[in-house]
Amino acid sequence: MITELESGINVPFISGNVATAINVPFISGPFPWPLIGNIPHVIGRKPHVLVSNLAKNYGPLMSLRMGTRVVVFGSSPAVAAEILRTHDRELSARYAPKATPIEESELKKYSLLWSTDCQNQWKSFRVLWKSELFSNKALDLQAEIRAKKKRKSKKCMDKMFQVWGDIIKQRRNVDDHNDVKHEDFLDFMMANGFSDVQILYMLLEILPAGAGTLIATTEWAMAELLKNKEAMAKLHQELEGEIMNTNFVKESQLSKLPYLNACIKETLRLHPPIAFLPHCANSTCEVMNYTIPKNSLVLVNLWAMGHDPMIWDDPFSFRPERFLNSNLEFKGQDFEFLPFGGGRRMCPGLPYAHRQLQLILASLIYYFKWYLPNDGDPWQIDMDEKYAVPLQMKKPLLLLSSRRC
Ligand code: HEM
Repeated sequence: MITELESGINVPFISGNVATAINVPFISGPFPWPLIGNIPHVIGRKPHVLVSNLAKNYGPLMSLRMGTRVVVFGSSPAVAAEILRTHDRELSARYAPKATPIEESELKKYSLLWSTDCQNQWKSFRVLWKSELFSNKALDLQAEIRAKKKRKSKKCMDKMFQVWGDIIKQRRNVDDHNDVKHEDFLDFMMANGFSDVQILYMLLEILPAGAGTLIATTEWAMAELLKNKEAMAKLHQELEGEIMNTNFVKESQLSKLPYLNACIKETLRLHPPIAFLPHCANSTCEVMNYTIPKNSLVLVNLWAMGHDPMIWDDPFSFRPERFLNSNLEFKGQDFEFLPFGGGRRMCPGLPYAHRQLQLILASLIYYFKWYLPNDGDPWQIDMDEKYAVPLQMKKPLLLLSSRRC
């Protein structure tokens, strides 16, 4: 049978029994070519959009072959719950491409993000992140440090390793000689016995994992708010009522800003920075009566779920109001809305990311007015995406600002 896809490709459809007979994955998907598999179907396009369109034909559990590797895509809340809850143990490995310059043994020893399995070292990193670094209590304790950093301007990125290495050494020397405690990231890591090299790796991971996602989300939120004047006005009104001429937004004010929160959720629904949750099967398992072979990549397609008309009314429009009278949270329990993932690999930076997004957006909108250069019409903003991690605006957003107060 030949199926015509929205992408315009004609592909033979392989159903379950035929698939078994010629030894291709049991889950349906477009016909894989010998050796290269389905690479021609996705190369050079926006994979998140293409795969979402393919899933309309092949169903919410679909497979492609990338060379010899099976890639399984889940794109409905029910499939996401199977992958992230029922089979969390088997499907929570990570795949480190062979091109990665670091050996797998090193990744296991030092990396949280790229740790291929969820063994002891990964567990101790997670405990530390959850309890000491990014719990609400720890974040409250660090609020003063963040406020101080906002007031200082810093030069932050070249020769990171060397600079950080020097800081760690200096801190260890100082702490050996007197009892000063800063109670920041470095103190927590050192107090928990992490070596210099472990701390450096951790910092190297936080920077791209944290900064990139926050920057991309802020950029998308600003673009959406510029285009949606009504939402921008409502948000500004809410901020005016709460912040009232203070010099900077205080963390204690954030819980009183429901519309700001709704804008952040709506941005993450439409533009999830990580379009596919990147999991890998550490053993063969069955999901919804289909076999997922060991070592398959298992990707939950957040972009597809965020744009699914079966889940969201008018899914391509920016409507923060949809979150106002709703209990939907992004804490990994609501499987239709998973911008931070779910299960054991869920983003450990969530509490920090959430606070930072609130602080950044509230400050940008409360203290500044924003315009397009040459009096441009915000409807002209090009919202086209560039597939990357994080998912980005194809044309970076260029805005001018003037201070409101
Ligand atoms: C808008 C902000 C952010 C979003 C949407 C986001 C989203 C995600 C997602 C979807 C995952 C993968 C979850 C999975 O595989 O099931 C992840 C993992 C991760 N995130 Fe975030 N993230 C954000 C910010 C941050 C920040 C600020 C940090 C650090 C300070 C961070 C650190 C990490 C780390 C270390 C992992 C890997 C965890 C592991 O593999 O065990 N993220 N994030």
